[in-house]
Amino acid sequence: MEKPIILTGLDAWEVIASRDYNTFSMADVYRSLAGRTGIDFSAAIDLMDRLPVFLSGDVHKATRRSMAQSYAATREKQQSNVEAAITKVIDDLAASSGTVDVLKRISDPIWIAIEEAVMSDFEVRCDPDLVNSIPDLFIPELSIRRRKRINDQISAFIDTMPPDEKENILHALSFLVLGVRPLSYSIALSFSRLAKQNDGIKLSEIDYPSSFEDSALRFVDRIATKDVMVGGCPHAAGTRLRNISFDDSYTREDNEKYLFGAGAHLCLGRPISLYIWGRLSSGLKAIPKRIRPGTVKLSAREPFLMVSACNVILADD
Ligand code: HEM
Repeated sequence: MEKPIILTGLDAWEVIASRDYNTFSMADVYRSLAGRTGIDFSAAIDLMDRLPVFLSGDVHKATRRSMAQSYAATREKQQSNVEAAITKVIDDLAASSGTVDVLKRISDPIWIAIEEAVMSDFEVRCDPDLVNSIPDLFIPELSIRRRKRINDQISAFIDTMPPDEKENILHALSFLVLGVRPLSYSIALSFSRLAKQNDGIKLSEIDYPSSFEDSALRFVDRIATKDVMVGGCPHAAGTRLRNISFDDSYTREDNEKYLFGAGAHLCLGRPISLYIWGRLSSGLKAIPKRIRPGTVKLSAREPFLMVSACNVILADD
């Protein structure tokens, strides 16, 4: 696979919002891998064929519509679960001093609240570890052995699905697979950044931005469907363009505008994510504790900026 061409700023945003490009087909990667190795990746392919970020044209439209319907069906439950989870998170933070593990104490409970709501209509239960590990399948350097292991776990889960529910359950699973890392890690990265920017300031005195301060998903890829000119440069049909959607060199307004993508693939988790950010920041506004930055460990595992540790420190006056 050739290295993608990197586009930034206006060029990137133009491509992201345009309908003249296809997405990269992850299912085709697994079809080709299965062909080359003789290994059965049919469960991974079954799922990748339903992930809207890897679909284009009419198939994308139809899949996105079905997924949006299944999202709408549990929307109220997601909101009430999240509301209850954030109330607990805020109470926990208000009673805490010292090091706070942001992933464990803030991101995880909020994510579990969404996951339980999205899966609440189904009798089958999905192991949360499976949802968390499926996005590893997007990593270009992942070993074949690990790919196969995740494929087999998806396959075992598919086997538990009643046939008449399979389509709906796969939509729900797809929604979760695309949400888990961006949401959990963007919460952690945003917290860590707020702590650095407001070192020693009381949570109640911070001027919270209206959206996430940082993002775990900073680019989206598109494939040119014909020869194109972007920013005065020609790109041949078939070129993979990597569009930097979020970057420290951009203004806060631009980062906020493109945080969730744009155009046909605009994030379906945007409403619940913004609701979470709003609820979290208004809850923090009521806590008179001082915040300091703590240890953060990051690693870039395409396409995500992964957070393996993220601490902030809370102190009483
Ligand atoms: C701060 C949190 C989040 C960020 C920064 C984020 C970012 C993005 C971005 C940039 C895209 C566009 C991808 C593209 O154009 O190829 C996207 C798509 C998507 N996101 Fe999110 N996302 C977040 C949270 C969520 C959550 C919580 C969910 C679901 C639980 C979710 C579900 C989706 C889905 C289903 C799509 C695919 C839309 C399509 O291709 O039609 N996201 N997200």
